[in-house]
Amino acid sequence: MQLGWARGAKMQLGVLLTLLLCSSLEGQENSFTINSIHMESLPDWTVQNGQNLTLQCIVDVSTTSHVKPQHLVLFYKDDVLFYNVSSMENTESFFIPQARVYDSGTYKCTVILNNKEKTSQEYQVSVKGVPNPRVTLDKKEAIEGGVVVVNCSVPEEKAPIHFTIEKLELNKKIVKHKREKTSWDQNFVMLEFPIEEQDHVLIFRCQARIISGIHMEISESTRSELVTVRESFSVPKFHVSPTGMITEGDQLHIKCTIQVTHLTQEFPEIIIQKDKVIVANNKHGNEATYSVMAMVEHNGNYTCKVESSRISKVSSIVVNITELFSKPKLEFSSSRLDQGESLNLSCSIPGAPPANFTLQKGDMIVSQAQNFTKIASEWDSGAYTCTAAIGKVVKKSNVVQIAVCEMLSEPRISHDAQSEVIKGQTIAVSCQSINGTSPISYQLLKANRVLESCTKSSNDPAVFRDNPTKDVEYQCVADNCHSHTKMFSDVLRVKVIAPVSEVKLSILLSEAVESGKEMVLRCSVNEGSGPITYRFYREKEGKPFHQMTSNDTQVFWRKPQASKEQEGQYYCTAFNRANVVESAPHSNLLPVRVFLAPWKKGLIAVIVIGVIIATLIVGAKCYFLRKAKAKQMPVEMSRPAAPLLNSNNEKMSDPNVEANSHYGYDDVGNHAMKPINDNKEPLNLDVEYTEVEVSSAEPHRALGVKGVETVYSEIRKADPDFVENRYSRTEGSLDGT
Ligand SMILES: *[C@@H]1O[C@H](CO)[C@@H](O)[C@H](O)[C@H]1NC(C)=O
Ligand SMILES: *[C@@H]1O[C@H](CO)[C@@H](O)[C@H](O)[C@H]1NC(C)=O
Ligand SMILES: *[C@@H]1O[C@H](CO)[C@@H](O)[C@H](O)[C@H]1NC(C)=O
Ligand SMILES: *[C@@H]1O[C@H](CO)[C@@H](O)[C@H](O)[C@H]1NC(C)=O
Ligand SMILES: *[C@@H]1O[C@H](CO)[C@@H](O)[C@H](O)[C@H]1NC(C)=O
Ligand SMILES: *[C@@H]1O[C@H](CO)[C@@H](O)[C@H](O)[C@H]1NC(C)=O
Ligand SMILES: *[C@@H]1O[C@H](CO)[C@@H](O)[C@H](O)[C@H]1NC(C)=O
Ligand SMILES: *[C@@H]1O[C@H](CO)[C@@H](O)[C@H](O)[C@H]1NC(C)=O
Ligand SMILES: *[C@@H]1O[C@H](CO)[C@@H](O)[C@H](O)[C@H]1NC(C)=O
Ligand SMILES: *[C@@H]1O[C@H](CO)[C@@H](O)[C@H](O)[C@H]1NC(C)=O
Repeated sequence: MQLGWARGAKMQLGVLLTLLLCSSLEGQENSFTINSIHMESLPDWTVQNGQNLTLQCIVDVSTTSHVKPQHLVLFYKDDVLFYNVSSMENTESFFIPQARVYDSGTYKCTVILNNKEKTSQEYQVSVKGVPNPRVTLDKKEAIEGGVVVVNCSVPEEKAPIHFTIEKLELNKKIVKHKREKTSWDQNFVMLEFPIEEQDHVLIFRCQARIISGIHMEISESTRSELVTVRESFSVPKFHVSPTGMITEGDQLHIKCTIQVTHLTQEFPEIIIQKDKVIVANNKHGNEATYSVMAMVEHNGNYTCKVESSRISKVSSIVVNITELFSKPKLEFSSSRLDQGESLNLSCSIPGAPPANFTLQKGDMIVSQAQNFTKIASEWDSGAYTCTAAIGKVVKKSNVVQIAVCEMLSEPRISHDAQSEVIKGQTIAVSCQSINGTSPISYQLLKANRVLESCTKSSNDPAVFRDNPTKDVEYQCVADNCHSHTKMFSDVLRVKVIAPVSEVKLSILLSEAVESGKEMVLRCSVNEGSGPITYRFYREKEGKPFHQMTSNDTQVFWRKPQASKEQEGQYYCTAFNRANVVESAPHSNLLPVRVFLAPWKKGLIAVIVIGVIIATLIVGAKCYFLRKAKAKQMPVEMSRPAAPLLNSNNEKMSDPNVEANSHYGYDDVGNHAMKPINDNKEPLNLDVEYTEVEVSSAEPHRALGVKGVETVYSEIRKADPDFVENRYSRTEGSLDGT
């Protein structure tokens, strides 16, 4: 493009001269129009890489002027202006010598005439093909483990360029190594290729790719010069001795050797491996040796690996050793024995060649004989092997696991609590067989049903936890590998006591008790194991007034004849061994009321009334006596002097006095109130009263109060006829009277 600008400079000079010449002529008003604008490409829109290319912009302008008008032609690539020229010609050109892929793109041109402007359509320029890349190497001779640096470039083109470089063995088609890289800012790449142990004479191939629009242009492959590879060390070689057939017992030597070139500074490491196990190695020399007494186990595929930092060379050999005798076989009567049974072990070699046998338990020699018999004890459990030796060759048999079982001792059962268990408490029941081979499986039976199982790997006790709610029996069952059947422990009986709960105090019949009748309190508990101690309290009294112990869930307290004294608030407490005495549960507070029988109230009223009446009578008597004294003094004086009576005297007086008083009354004669003989009996507690309802006035005994139907009769307790009526209030009939 730079060249194009240079070429255009000459033309511009001419144009400028023409402009100067014509400037005067353009003073006149002329008309211009742009008819059309288009582009052409020589030789074509698609060219081969390296071809000369000319882009032309052809403008058709009409004018009234006889002089061609001056116009500006602008060339664009991918919408970027790259060339402008002022011209009076119809055709303007832009020359691209040796077109490259980067010249590919979308081109257009624009013409500007005064203030008129027209743009051509867009044209696609494609440059086909990429120039062959150039490949250079940093060396012509390489050593294994070294590297070759390959420079691949396309000097004609511009980045980005994608390079592909391949490493090949001369005259072989297989690509040994391929690397790719895109260079974004340079038209070359430098890539390193390591030299490997299989490389001998190498060539490198390079190919370049460049994106042209949406297409990828690919160059041909360019080959580099040859690279000769030199070995750093040789492929390892095996030497096995003895040569020929190797028999067990022979001394076996497996040697691996290499040759090292003088160019290498240090020795590579030599490793002899058998099935991934390193059997010999050497870091400072050109050989490694594995020496061993030949055994069949040493049969196999041996590998010798020689390794430097990058190079590893391997060779392998199969070693075949002939067996002298087969592996001995250890046989056993039984792998599981009871203590006391006979343990028989026998070691043999197929074909039975004469050999020396050793029988071992673990690392301990138990017998030097072929056969072994003993009475088994628990200590004889273990892993047994035997070895057979013929000369130097010693062979080990299979491992036999023998388990000798000691019989379990009878399991012991116990629990951690005292003899009694409080309901709700968790107890730990332990089962233990002191003797007997573990593992021991224990089962805890609760009321003959399996509650829980567990297996102990020692003779330590098995501990089960339970929460009994009532009296229960536990038993342990233990079992182990011994052929004896399961062992049962003794039966463990656990007594469960329930603490007292929900204490209730109640009274029989009614909370109101008639005085003199029986009062019965009941203290009961909802639950609780006997013996339960019950205590009855009256409120505000610190000490119980009654205490008793019973196995029953209720107790009674009786007061045969309740009196007003028994009135009050009651409660009771109850506790047993499972309760804390201080906080024994309390019952409800029960109020008890004691009332007097209605007839007693009546009696009291009658007594009061009687006293009043008696007082009145005595008062009246005194009054009349005085009056009569005053009138009949002479008569009175002739009689013996009668003492002055008052009501009190009267009652306490003897029958004579009483008789006198009768006389006194008789003397009065017309007195309405007729005293009753019985009424004059002294009051005492033996007298009981019955409330009697009468329909008519009784001629005898009835207390003569006219019009009163209910009267109180005084009854002598001694009178058998009236005993029946005690405490009873008789209404409407007088059966007893
Ligand atoms: C391409 O152009 C150059 C001048 O820039 C000329 O020397 C060369 O001969 C041309 N090549 C062809 C094939 O026309
Ligand atoms: C045309 O090119 C010249 C240099 O060649 C430049 O100075 C000028 O600005 C360009 N004109 C336009 C319109 O780009
Ligand atoms: C790679 O080669 C190209 C030309 O072949 C050269 O221009 C470039 O400098 C070289 N790169 C290096 C790192 O030598
Ligand atoms: C021995 O082992 C090597 C490495 O594992 C293997 O390449 C080779 O084939 C083996 N040879 C035989 C005879 O199995
Ligand atoms: C080893 O050699 C014996 C004969 O000596 C042959 O029967 C056997 O197949 C060989 N085994 C191998 C793995 O080559
Ligand atoms: C073990 O050997 C003894 C004597 O040799 C024999 O009586 C017994 O039966 C053998 N026991 C078994 C299980 O073979
Ligand atoms: C060992 O026992 C086997 C049978 O189990 C018998 O054939 C063999 O003769 C015994 N060997 C000796 C040395 O007692
Ligand atoms: C067994 O051992 C004895 C003494 O150690 C030895 O003399 C004998 O040769 C051995 N027998 C075999 C078959 O190895
Ligand atoms: C446990 O075994 C020892 C010795 O073996 C014996 O003395 C003891 O009596 C045994 N105990 C029971 C409970 O069997
Ligand atoms: C309570 O029961 C136990 C046994 O269950 C008995 O020994 C005791 O005598 C009983 N006590 C009373 C007061 O009945």
